Amino acid sequence: MSGLIINGKNRLDGEITIQGSKNSCLPMLAACILMQGDVIIENCPDISDVREMLKMLQYLGCNIEFNDNVLKINSSGCVYKELPYECGHLRGSLNFLGAMLSAFGKVKMPKPGGCNIGERPIDYHIEGMKALMTETLQIEDCLCAKVIANKVDGYYCFPTPSLGALENLILRALSIKGTCIFDNCTLEPEMEDFCDFLIKSGAKIYGVGTRRIIVVGGHRLTGIKYRIPGDRIVAGTYLLAVAITGGKFRCKGVVPKRLSATINYLKKIGIQVFTDCQTNEIIENADQRKAKDSVVITGPYPEFSTDLQSQMMAFACFNKGNTVIKDLIYPSRYGVASEFRKMGADISVVNDIAIVRGGKSMKGCRLCAKDLRGGAALVIASLGSEGSSYVCGCEFINRGYQDIARDLRALGADIRWNEEDEESLLI
Ligand code: EPU
Repeated sequence: MSGLIINGKNRLDGEITIQGSKNSCLPMLAACILMQGDVIIENCPDISDVREMLKMLQYLGCNIEFNDNVLKINSSGCVYKELPYECGHLRGSLNFLGAMLSAFGKVKMPKPGGCNIGERPIDYHIEGMKALMTETLQIEDCLCAKVIANKVDGYYCFPTPSLGALENLILRALSIKGTCIFDNCTLEPEMEDFCDFLIKSGAKIYGVGTRRIIVVGGHRLTGIKYRIPGDRIVAGTYLLAVAITGGKFRCKGVVPKRLSATINYLKKIGIQVFTDCQTNEIIENADQRKAKDSVVITGPYPEFSTDLQSQMMAFACFNKGNTVIKDLIYPSRYGVASEFRKMGADISVVNDIAIVRGGKSMKGCRLCAKDLRGGAALVIASLGSEGSSYVCGCEFINRGYQDIARDLRALGADIRWNEEDEESLLI
């Protein structure tokens, strides 16, 4: 499964039920070490980021069964261990910081890795932990932390909203016998899912979905059964794919409100989008679009998601008109632009702003994914281009998409995994 072979220019029509959300799921997996009894997670995406987290849980002694997107975890055999070097490859592993502190009062782990999308500081995690009576030391590539006191009240105000840091502080606060208050919290839907999961397990968390979250810790967490909601970023990727190729798409299993910024953008450029909040369906008719100049600025939810910025850049390459893109969350997340240029795109990146002069002739070629969302963006750009593309570096794509080729084939795309040495036939 090393590469994808894509023949472009097929129109996409049909429906897909979207996989469970990666970013909702990853912190839940770390939280499982705090739960007594079986935790059953349904609609768990079978992606490599999840598999990596499961390896860590197994290493700590958890019992895991994972079949057909149903995951069962029992952490009764979980014991304290230093987390190994490989754990740092995955940004989501940082959630073990808060979870291990609550479970064992200490942790030693590698500093987290993640995608090649620019600086990803962890200062809010460290500062927030200090405010919750936790001593944290960074020694070379390692992060060491220990609980100083567990009967306290804590307060931390985020300088800017952060999903990962709030997850970590909540995980830490769960074991504190006192009240912890967090201000300027992220409103990202994945946070709501995470809190919903913890509350069902017995946690006392108030203010979910607002800027102030309060955790009253020290309560026993029990095993539960939980279904992960659909992944809004995967859904947004496919909505933009169909916007590129034209066609009619029924996207099932994602709360439409979670994609408001993307849907509003598509509507502005003349693509018809209907949403049904009862059935959680988004229906897109992309047979017509207006060539238009536009500006896309990413920001904290509910603004346009940074995780759809590369896919939006792919779309902008096909839409006649100029698109100005500014990523306020990761200001240098434009690595994919050089790959689009190989296909014929006209893109300049100046002072953290990308300008795409769209509507140029785009041709398939050999492409290399260098990060998860950039990789998905190359796939959808290939679907709209003349001729064949070969996308390598798909291990990045598989971190977040269970099977991007299977999904897109269901809509009529000509896309398949490289089974033999077909790469040489193409380029
Ligand atoms: N930030 C700091 N200091 C910190 C933490 C964050 O300055 O200590 C800044 C970041 O630099 C960024 C902003 O705060 O500008 C938001 O970062 P956040 O902490 O919310 O990001 P994250 O939790 O590390 C998650 C997702 C990312 C997604 C971002 C933003 C996971 C595992 N990752 O990262 O997902 O881009 O939120 O929404 O949940 C992806 O799925 O492709 C992906 C990269």
